[in-house]
Amino acid sequence: MNPMNPKSLSASRGGGGGKMPLSIVAIILCTLAFMGLLYTERLSFLSSNTIFRFKPCPAARYKLPKSDSKKLKEKPLDYGADDRFEFDPEECSITNGKWVFNRSIKPLYTDSSCPYLDRQVSCVKNGRNDSDYLYWHWQLDDCMLPRFNPEIALRKLQGKRLMFVGDSLQRGQWQSFVCLVESVIPKSQKSMKRGRVHSVFKAKEYNATIEFYWAPFLIESNSDVHIIGDPKQRILKIDSVAKHAQNWIGVDTLVFNTYVWWMSGLKIKSLWGNFSNGEEGYEELEAPVSYRIGLKTWANWVDTTIDPNKTRVFFTTMSPTHQRSEDWGNKDGIKCFNETKPILNRWHWGSGSDRKMMNVVSSVASRMKTPITFINITQLSEYRIDAHSSVYTELQGQLLTEEQRNDPLHFADCIHWCLPGVPDTWNQLLFAHL
Ligand SMILES: *[C@@H]1O[C@H](CO)[C@@H](O)[C@H](O)[C@H]1NC(C)=O
Ligand SMILES: *[C@@H]1O[C@H](CO)[C@@H](O)[C@H](O)[C@H]1NC(C)=O
Ligand SMILES: *[C@@H]1O[C@H](CO)[C@@H](O)[C@H](O)[C@H]1NC(C)=O
Ligand SMILES: *[C@@H]1O[C@H](CO)[C@@H](O)[C@H](O)[C@H]1NC(C)=O
Ligand SMILES: *[C@@H]1O[C@H](CO)[C@@H](O)[C@H](O)[C@H]1NC(C)=O
Ligand SMILES: *[C@@H]1O[C@H](CO)[C@@H](O)[C@H](O)[C@H]1NC(C)=O
Ligand SMILES: *[C@@H]1O[C@H](CO)[C@@H](O)[C@H](O)[C@H]1NC(C)=O
Repeated sequence: MNPMNPKSLSASRGGGGGKMPLSIVAIILCTLAFMGLLYTERLSFLSSNTIFRFKPCPAARYKLPKSDSKKLKEKPLDYGADDRFEFDPEECSITNGKWVFNRSIKPLYTDSSCPYLDRQVSCVKNGRNDSDYLYWHWQLDDCMLPRFNPEIALRKLQGKRLMFVGDSLQRGQWQSFVCLVESVIPKSQKSMKRGRVHSVFKAKEYNATIEFYWAPFLIESNSDVHIIGDPKQRILKIDSVAKHAQNWIGVDTLVFNTYVWWMSGLKIKSLWGNFSNGEEGYEELEAPVSYRIGLKTWANWVDTTIDPNKTRVFFTTMSPTHQRSEDWGNKDGIKCFNETKPILNRWHWGSGSDRKMMNVVSSVASRMKTPITFINITQLSEYRIDAHSSVYTELQGQLLTEEQRNDPLHFADCIHWCLPGVPDTWNQLLFAHL
């Protein structure tokens, strides 16, 4: 076993449920030993308050992001020529936009050029030979999203620690960020230390670190370091975050996520108080209920510990899973397998993004003292059925065999994303907010 690899397991295995016919659920539960199928309820459309104000950009607004306005003499941001307004994080909605195909804009790295990518997400190396998915760009309706510029990103991080905290999707975002910047740093000026829980990439000349901390539920559980495959055996200590959180102190920019691990489709064994009562002491709660208490625990830690003048707190919203091709009208499809184009249907929202869970996040954050900036990736990623690692991945450290590849129902990973790919856009959004 590769110690670094909670890997495919890390997104969560197990669990059907929701509103699927029982027979299908049974098949899923029986056959899906490895990949998690995360069928969630179809939820009615709910509006919710968000931290971002969804106003169009005001017409007369042309200012550079505050932190950089002085340093940009020789390297202006690439806003292109367009009648949309310059990106202002206060004013622009990052969820309203469309994917635009442009083959002449190349990704900043490949899975061969960047030495820090896990095999799990290195789709091209793993045999993916259709390449269109690499050339879609997220274009906002009202504003120009600046392109990711590695030098500017590093300057913004100068003397700072940036830490991604969360699950394997967050690990993907972290690796994407590292790969986006690493090519402009000479070999002697960078280092990478991978750990089972905590990994650190250092950019020495900038005295900056880009770190990842593994905490798939943010709060503590019995399945953090030694992952328990069967969701029925997992117990979450929903009032307890200190053990992980002590490692987040002193970081300048924290980027959190947690979602998919809560979505096993089962009730969540939730424990609070003195854990010595162990197995017997838990309560089985519906996911949104348990999620709310867990996030509240995290929020209380942030509010009592973080100095908002020193530390910025981001939260990446849920990364959609694409397990049901019926969601996008492909009746004969097998999950996201063989999809090569994004969904172009505006406002598409599938069953893999649970609005109840989203509302829990909004509601908890709205009552925090510390300002939380959402990187709201859910809508834009919902369209990208073409960009998951699918069968171009590995399982427990082994590349999928030919046989497994021909069995996408069981082996296609429609949770994680190829890199380069969609998480680069998440980081483009983060970059625009730094
Ligand atoms: C993220 O965007 C969606 C719309 O795409 C919205 O429904 C949701 O409330 C937003 N979430 C947060 C936490 O702001
Ligand atoms: C594609 O991107 C290039 C480089 O930014 C730009 O010059 C070109 O106009 C774009 N093409 C389209 C069709 O948008
Ligand atoms: C891509 O790979 C598939 C099998 O994985 C193969 O059938 C196809 O010919 C390949 N296409 C190209 C352009 O190499
Ligand atoms: C490097 O950054 C750390 C914070 O990440 C800071 O404590 C330290 O003083 C910095 N060192 C230099 C030489 O700037
Ligand atoms: C939890 O209970 C055990 C056994 O009753 C006791 O020894 C321990 O001190 C308690 N821990 C806390 C934090 O209360
Ligand atoms: C943050 O800075 C502002 C203005 O300098 C100050 O009024 C406020 O008390 C500071 N907050 C904390 C938590 O230190
Ligand atoms: C995948 O798509 C290609 C072309 O769209 C098609 O020829 C092939 O039969 C599909 N493979 C499967 C297993 O559905």
